[in-house]
Amino acid sequence: MKGIVLAGGSGTRLYPATKVISKQLLPIYNKPMVYYPISVLMLAGIQDILLISTPHDIGLFERLLGNGHQFGINISYAIQERPEGLAQAFLIAEKFIDGGPSTLVLGDNIFYGHNLSAMLQKSARLEKGACIYGYYVDDPERYGVAELDDESNVLSIEEKPTNPKSNYAVTGLYFYDNTVVERVKTLKPSSRGELEISSLNNLYLADNELKINILGRGMAWLDTGTHASLIEASNYIQILEKTQGLQVACLEEVGFKMGYLSKEDVLITANQLKNSTYGDYLLKTIHEDSC
Ligand code: DAU
Repeated sequence: MKGIVLAGGSGTRLYPATKVISKQLLPIYNKPMVYYPISVLMLAGIQDILLISTPHDIGLFERLLGNGHQFGINISYAIQERPEGLAQAFLIAEKFIDGGPSTLVLGDNIFYGHNLSAMLQKSARLEKGACIYGYYVDDPERYGVAELDDESNVLSIEEKPTNPKSNYAVTGLYFYDNTVVERVKTLKPSSRGELEISSLNNLYLADNELKINILGRGMAWLDTGTHASLIEASNYIQILEKTQGLQVACLEEVGFKMGYLSKEDVLITANQLKNSTYGDYLLKTIHEDSC
């Protein structure tokens, strides 16, 4: 399974904060936003990742993340010239995907919660069809919305409906089989000129090949779409990290725990960052693991 992080878009809704920098590079408490969705792919067991962003921002992501080896993963980069829809990511990534299954995560989606890794790893073993994640929200009209039957089978998917058929938002995390590229090639741009991810999901649904995992109440799916929700997400992460003494989306730690990195590998980064709390945390993580 290969992973795609889509981190483009115009970011105009957060102007002027995003006038010269990509939204997905803004900090969520103590690390750039994009760390969080990358950690989701890593926890799913995915080590080959393509990051897609705008011509203007791609160089900044490369400077931040490099080839990903410091996290025990391989990151490559591709450009989306214009924000022509989430599903376009699969056309851009066609070569990278190379005829296999793939997972897309949006660069501005933050997930946190107990048992998340196990759920993700199960989804990453998908061989046929598609698997999406649903989350109960108060304002479903802002999202893709999944209508479900009593057994949580998907009945319909609608993009930002005026009258939502349920409160289940479709989150920005999608697992697809090896037919995804050919399916996207059949999509037509929507009235807003985008290749819609909901249209792609509807193609799978029409073939009875769309499954949804519901993230329960104990899970957090954090919004970063407004200035207020950005600071709320930062506060949430700060409280969690302070209470537990454990970081969320510390990529070197995730790489170490997933067995992608050795202690010696983590030590190199920890020493480079030893004047920061992040570096101190890495040192503590390695130390505790040897106790
Ligand atoms: O966050 C989950 C929601 O994401 C889903 O529930 C919706 O079904 C899905 O359409 C999407 O809705 P958004 O309103 O959040 O879409 P938005 O256009 O804001 O794009 C989401 C992120 O992807 C945003 O950070 C910008 C980036 N993006 C967007 C487009 C359209 C790109 O990188 N390229 C694009 O072409």
